[in-house]
Amino acid sequence: MSYEFLQLAVDERIATITINRPDKLNALNVDTVGELDRCMTDLADRADVGAIVITGAGRAFAAGADIGELAALTPAGAQAFAERGQRVLRRFETSRKPTIAAVNGFALGGGCELAMSCHVRVAAESAKLGQPEVKLGLSPGYGGTQRLPRLVGRGRALELLLTGDAVSAAEALRIGLVNVVVPAADVLSRSRAMAAAMLQQAPLALAACIAAVDVGLEYGLEAGLAVEATGFGVLASTADVKEGTSAFLAKRAPAFTGR
Ligand code: COA
Repeated sequence: MSYEFLQLAVDERIATITINRPDKLNALNVDTVGELDRCMTDLADRADVGAIVITGAGRAFAAGADIGELAALTPAGAQAFAERGQRVLRRFETSRKPTIAAVNGFALGGGCELAMSCHVRVAAESAKLGQPEVKLGLSPGYGGTQRLPRLVGRGRALELLLTGDAVSAAEALRIGLVNVVVPAADVLSRSRAMAAAMLQQAPLALAACIAAVDVGLEYGLEAGLAVEATGFGVLASTADVKEGTSAFLAKRAPAFTGR
C-alpha cells in the first residue's frame, strides 16, 4: 500500500505512521485525511501489527486542517469535511489495537484533535497543543469540542477553545491533555516502548479495555458496565486467560497468542 503524504513502517508488531508534509507543518489536507483512513483499514487487517504510533515529520505533529482548503469551503462542503474528518479520527479512538500519538511538535486544530483521538499521548518538551480555530472564525470540526472537555474538563477546555491559545507540553501534562512529556529526541522511542509494553498483554484484553472505556464515556456508566461485564465474560473463555493465570501461578512470563 503506498501513500503520498504518509510514511508507514512496521517493526516488532508496532506500526509507525508518519504524516509527511513537513513544508506545510503536516497540515491535514483532504488527501492526507483520506490516506489516514486507508492506512487505518490496512493496519486493522494486518496480523503483523498489534499497536499503532502516529507522529509527524519535521517540527510539527500536525498544524491543523489545511487552511488553504478551508478557505474555499461552502457551508455544506464544510459540514461534509468535518463529518469525514470526524469519522477518520474516530477510527483511531475505536481501534482495537492501541493507538499512541507521539506529539513531536505543533499539534494544533485537527492535529490536536488527531492526538486526542489516540488512546495515549506522548509529547516532546517542545510540543505546543491547542485549538486555534476561533482565530480563523471557525470552531473545531474534528471532535475538539467533545474530546477536549472529556480529557481536561469543561472549564479548561472552554478556556483553550475560546482563547484559541496553545499550551506548552508541560501545561498539557498538568491539565491531562497528554500522558507524558519527554525530551524531543525520545518522543518516538518512548511511544514505541509504551506500545511494546501494551503488546506484552493479551490482545483481546486490550480490545476489551478500549471498547468498555469508549462505550462508558459515550453512553454512560450503566452501558459501560454492561460492556465491561460482557467483555470479562468473553475473555474468561479465551486461551489467553488460561495462559495468563497459569503463567502467574507457575511464576513465569505469559506468552499470549490472541486467542
Ligand atoms: N494549513 C496550511 N498550511 C499551513 C498550516 C495549516 N494549518 N500551518 C502551517 N502551514 C504552512 C504555512 O503556511 C507555511 O507555508 P509556506 O512556507 O508555504 O508559507 C508553512 O506551513 C510553515 O508555517 P509558518 O507559519 O511559516 O511557521 P511558523 O513557525 O512561523 O508558525 C505555526 C508555526 C504553527 C504557529 C503557524 O504555522 C500556524 O499558526 N499555523 C496554523 C495553525 C492553525 O490555525 N491550525 C488550525 C487550522 S483549523
